[in-house]
Amino acid sequence: MLSEEKNRLLTRVGPGEPMGDYLRRYWLPIAGAAELDANPVKPIRILGEDLVLYRDLSGTYGLTERNCLHRRADLSYGFVEKKGLRCNYHGWLFDEGGACIERPYDDLAHPQSRNAQLPCIKAYPVKELAGLLFAYMGPKPAPELSVYEPFTRTDGFAQVVTADIPCNWFQCQENSCDPVHFEWMHDNWSLRLAGKDAPYAAKHLRVAFDEFEHGFTYKRMREGATEDDPLWQVGRVTLWPIGFFLGQHFEWRVPVDDENTLSIAWFYMRVPEEQQPYVQKHVPAWKSPIVGPDGRWISTHVINQDIIAWVGQGAIADRTKEVLGASDRGISMIRKRFLDDLESVAAGNDPKGTIRDPEAAKCIPLPSGDSNADLSLSKDEMMRNPYFRARITQDFRWHAGQPKEVRKAFLEAMGAAEQIAKEGL
Ligand code: FES
Ligand SMILES: [Fe+2]
Repeated sequence: MLSEEKNRLLTRVGPGEPMGDYLRRYWLPIAGAAELDANPVKPIRILGEDLVLYRDLSGTYGLTERNCLHRRADLSYGFVEKKGLRCNYHGWLFDEGGACIERPYDDLAHPQSRNAQLPCIKAYPVKELAGLLFAYMGPKPAPELSVYEPFTRTDGFAQVVTADIPCNWFQCQENSCDPVHFEWMHDNWSLRLAGKDAPYAAKHLRVAFDEFEHGFTYKRMREGATEDDPLWQVGRVTLWPIGFFLGQHFEWRVPVDDENTLSIAWFYMRVPEEQQPYVQKHVPAWKSPIVGPDGRWISTHVINQDIIAWVGQGAIADRTKEVLGASDRGISMIRKRFLDDLESVAAGNDPKGTIRDPEAAKCIPLPSGDSNADLSLSKDEMMRNPYFRARITQDFRWHAGQPKEVRKAFLEAMGAAEQIAKEGL
């Protein structure tokens, strides 16, 4: 159980709130780069601020406030130029730093004031990495963008999946440090959803949590496993501050505002040896639905199941009413770290896990007990390995609604022509 005050501190993210200011000190993923393919201008709301994300005609990304400096028109209806974003009302043009670099009529009428410095609109830097766009909305100088090792790989197929979640970010992130829910929410509930009632999955016998520079690891020992199981020895990563890393994929719970979260996930699978060397030309991005045709939450896919837990806890989970159990030790640990770190940052320190040394940020290894992530296999070996075989022969398991063209591109990358024919793609 938490006090009202601590619940508030952990959850509120608008400008001026301690947690909002804290999270602004990190580069946060805000979109898949491919989301700007069809329309290069996208309205977006992050940390309680309405913004516009765009890619201009020379490929530079910008993230600015939503309303124009002139008379406050909506810049998400603006259009991109070789440099910057132009307002569709009177044509004022803004560069990626937010400076107004053209006022077409004023520049003509008052050529002498052409170069006059105007106040800028608010703008935040954006960087592209591995098909994702990251933004930094905090005080300058920005720390380095942390390049985790999987982002440096060039031998596989990546995809970005987003979902709009109508609840607070922190209850989503607590799920990243909660090993026992796998047994119930994913294993046993899926079994029951499939109309079966036995056998229930292997029980969790022990769980352990450790802190390290980039977050926490959680470890699990389930019935039938031995001490040398990588999920007990190494575990999985609660990636600081809003992420989750499971070897072949990352998930982030990006705060939109106090009652909405943008889920962004990045999935990667190495292609078989016969397909190497392989360079993915385009990392697709797609949005997963969370509501089914019956108006109920979709429960067929892993992250959709998680989402049901998160939204079920309420718009902002009321932690003054909870009753924590023995499985929640990791959750207590991350709450304490956040609360301690808020104080540490108020005292002038950098927050946990931020990196200032460019060399150190270039390729950050993360622990992973998901040993499949590092295997290099031939096609035959993949088809004999239950993990890879399932990914090739079955529907995308993490999120509902994978578009056919993404499924096809994935199977092409895997050299799975037979499967493409079988699915009629
Ligand atoms: S309101 Fe944007 S140019 Fe006039
Ligand atoms: Fe889960």
